[in-house]
Amino acid sequence: MPKAAVLPALNEPMELLDLDLEAPKAGEVKVKMAASGVCHSDLSVQNGTILLPTPCVLGHEGAGVITEVGEGVTNVAPGDHVVLSFVPQCGTCFFCAREQGQLCEAANIALVSGGLLDGTPRFSRDGSPIFQMSACGTFSEETVVPAIGVVKIDPDMPLKQAALIGCGVLTGVGAALNTARIREGDTVAVVGCGGVGLNVIQGAKLAGAEQIIAVDMVEGKLELAQKFGATDTVNAGEGDAVSGVMSLTQQRGADLAFEVIGLKATIDQTINMTRRGGQAILVGVPNMEVMIELPAFLGLVVAEKSIKGCWYGSSNVGTDIPKLVSLYQDGKLMLDELISREIDNGQVNEAFDAMQKGEVARSVIVYD
Ligand code: APR
Ligand code: ZN
Ligand code: ZN
Repeated sequence: MPKAAVLPALNEPMELLDLDLEAPKAGEVKVKMAASGVCHSDLSVQNGTILLPTPCVLGHEGAGVITEVGEGVTNVAPGDHVVLSFVPQCGTCFFCAREQGQLCEAANIALVSGGLLDGTPRFSRDGSPIFQMSACGTFSEETVVPAIGVVKIDPDMPLKQAALIGCGVLTGVGAALNTARIREGDTVAVVGCGGVGLNVIQGAKLAGAEQIIAVDMVEGKLELAQKFGATDTVNAGEGDAVSGVMSLTQQRGADLAFEVIGLKATIDQTINMTRRGGQAILVGVPNMEVMIELPAFLGLVVAEKSIKGCWYGSSNVGTDIPKLVSLYQDGKLMLDELISREIDNGQVNEAFDAMQKGEVARSVIVYD
């Protein structure tokens, strides 16, 4: 009976409950969780920005050890260390065949249903189903997920750090390397320097960006951003973020600007701080009502700007997760520095508070 942090209903605090967990069905695996990051998207489910059925085990950024596999599973075996992918990637659908596994058709039902690939969850309590976020549910000591939702990693990689790769690192570094394809010498602006934004910054550094402008409202986040590779900072709480970036770029704007919060105001700012001919990349998850409006001629046509969405860092999890593990092992990827606090899964409410106050890059649940 795993203990799990469950969101009982929209806008309610998380509760730690003992749950029943079914054995993995065909094509599924059971994972004993080692660690899970607490991401802003978890909070977004609690407050309804991201809509999922409740009660629901949240958590989608985790790593652990396989303890049981269902019929027909060949990619992993008990004892394997894995990172969970909150977008299971089938490898064969229209999108996977075009190297766009982040858009995998098999994942769609899992992302909206609160269940696995067949739309049903494996958790229950007193006979009633308990849903699981993004076919994961990493705020539980144990979970059952699709086999195509786990990626085997080097057993020498520490699982606490590996957990962070599952969302924030894959999304942030992927946004820089895969979605935007930053080139050496580029000027980059990153709006929002939380767990995901810091990874856009370190991705930009890895890609060889010359100028990396970090934008946030919290001074501590801007300091952290500099550790991750930011060359300049703009405190959006002290003045207009767009003018701040303009004055650092000869009034041209950034070659590439990333929005990593999910608010209408910061999306508009990000588009406005992108130079003519540049790209605005939208990474943050806004609520369903947010619309983008801009003057078509002056804003887009004559400006030759592109606006690009970024889902899961445009990542192919099967190749990108092991690549990020190697980068960490080679000392080229900062993961230790993202872990601001270690907690247990009974402390998710406190972790949400700390996140909203801007106190942490990541709180990380560490399981025994
Ligand atoms: N201007 C500038 N910075 C802001 C503003 C603003 N108006 N509002 C918030 N921020 C900063 C916060 O100070 C914080 O550093 O944005 C950052 C957001 O970071 P986190 O809360 O840690 O969120 P994170 O986990 O990084 O997720 C960011 O990506 O995956 C999505 O759903 C997720 O939309 C969310 C986004
Ligand atoms: Zn996330
Ligand atoms: Zn697919």
